[in-house]
Amino acid sequence: MKVILCLLVIAVTTAQAIDVHQCGGEFQSPIRVTIPGCDVMPCEIPNQTDMSFEVLFAPSFPTSTLAVNVTATLGDFNLPYETPDHLRNGCDNIDASCPLVTGQEVTLKGTAPVEAPLTNVTVRMRFEIDGDDDRSVICFAADVRLV
Ligand SMILES: *[C@@H]1O[C@H](CO)[C@@H](O)[C@H](O)[C@H]1NC(C)=O
Ligand SMILES: *[C@@H]1O[C@H](CO)[C@@H](O)[C@H](O)[C@H]1NC(C)=O
Ligand SMILES: *[C@@H]1O[C@H](CO)[C@@H](O)[C@H](O)[C@H]1NC(C)=O
Repeated sequence: MKVILCLLVIAVTTAQAIDVHQCGGEFQSPIRVTIPGCDVMPCEIPNQTDMSFEVLFAPSFPTSTLAVNVTATLGDFNLPYETPDHLRNGCDNIDASCPLVTGQEVTLKGTAPVEAPLTNVTVRMRFEIDGDDDRSVICFAADVRLV
């Protein structure tokens, strides 16, 4: 019985995690990213609605700041994208308070508008979170399609 319960809990808590793109290079990846309503990329987002996401991560160094920077690309082109004000200060959107210690697991929740020039094109949204001294904490990218 306990085993079944544990398996169920694991199944439920991992059901929505999505495989996102890594940013490569020196960038650390988050532990888990969840985008409600999307199990596999590209995530379909109705025009004029925001994309919600949850990211679980653990900084590899202590930090008292979390600066969130969102950028959008279409193929090789950078789209003009302004990180929404409510997202910029990551410390406001985590389930803990800054400063964070090394390895502290926190979840950041946010919503970001998706801006695409056309429906049915896939846009890559890149989320970077930087800590003190502009050191990168984590980075990931998700493909979304406006429908
Ligand atoms: C956000 O990231 C982009 C691409 O890496 C960079 O060009 C831009 O300067 C960054 N903006 C901020 C406010 O850090
Ligand atoms: C999204 O909706 C707005 C308002 O209805 C419209 O002006 C815009 O062209 C639409 N965007 C896309 C990508 O279809
Ligand atoms: C959207 O794109 C897919 C594949 O690129 C295509 O099969 C489909 O017909 C397109 N739908 C619309 C409404 O343009």
